[in-house]
Amino acid sequence: MEEAQSKVLYSAVQPSGNLTIGNYVGAIRNWVALQGQFTCFYAIADLHAITVRQVPAELRRHTLELAALYIACGVDPARCTLYVQSNVPAHAELAWVLNTMTYVGEMERMTQFKDKAAKHAENVNMGLMAYPVLMAADILLYQTDVVPVGIDQRQHLEIARDIAVRFNNRYGETFRLPEGYIVKEGAKIASLQDPLHKMSKSDENPNASVYLSDDRDTVIRKFRRAVTDSDNAIVASEQKPGVTNLLNIYAAFRGCTVAEAEKEFAGKGYGDFKLAVGETVADVLAPIQAEQKRLLADKAYLSDILSRGAQAAAHTARRTLLKVYRKVGFYRGE
Ligand code: TRP
Repeated sequence: MEEAQSKVLYSAVQPSGNLTIGNYVGAIRNWVALQGQFTCFYAIADLHAITVRQVPAELRRHTLELAALYIACGVDPARCTLYVQSNVPAHAELAWVLNTMTYVGEMERMTQFKDKAAKHAENVNMGLMAYPVLMAADILLYQTDVVPVGIDQRQHLEIARDIAVRFNNRYGETFRLPEGYIVKEGAKIASLQDPLHKMSKSDENPNASVYLSDDRDTVIRKFRRAVTDSDNAIVASEQKPGVTNLLNIYAAFRGCTVAEAEKEFAGKGYGDFKLAVGETVADVLAPIQAEQKRLLADKAYLSDILSRGAQAAAHTARRTLLKVYRKVGFYRGE
């Protein structure tokens, strides 16, 4: 069977709520596209999420919402393994062993750690520091070949490889070395209010980001208020970051090229253009939102999918973990 030979791809997302259309174009859609090409493990990384403070009931709700959202977007539980990280104990177990082979200095130098430590200065906990080790455990447990990584996670993948090499050198060949998989990303989606910056799920300006949960009116209103510039040409260029961003968004949601979008809007005014972008995005979001809602109303179905996912993941993960335990010399009885 083709499946049995295909390479293993691993990815995970934190259940931190409020995903934007940038996450949709940059991550979720890729998960859908990749599931035909690889044996995919997709996790909802709740163990990672608690490295910053969470409200328990919200964490649980976000976890389910995210599972429903991914399925609504086309992640097919029949073609990939979709599961919640904390439901597979091997992640925490392997992370512990890997912690003992990772140096404090290495972790202190990680860019994301430094950023998050500065942002959450009152809560620089051990988990935050060991975040990359847990991520290494995620990846290595499945003998992963490829990890789709954007620029912000590249350093984490590097450290996962370093840890794997270190383990293999000390104990013999145990982990496959994962490679980064450069997803051919659609253009990065920028803030609607400050198009020189990435659209962020935690932007304080509510008009800056379009959330996947925004209703049609909200989406259209946000695009109407999007920053453009004072001339009138609908063309992509470095001098026109606002218009370029809107063209990128339009192209990504319409499934056309930016050049085609430019042609379509040549001679039109910004008002018409922004309305068209808003409507196009809203048209894509509507069926996803409806399907997510339907799934969330069917808790038994979701719970069944996630428990099957966890079982399948645990089966694979356990094999690697037992190998590790044996190599480091843990006693296992008969
Ligand atoms: N740290 C990743 C993020 O915030 C999420 C993540 C956790 C992940 N474990 C992973 C991504 C393993 C890839 C592979 O985006």
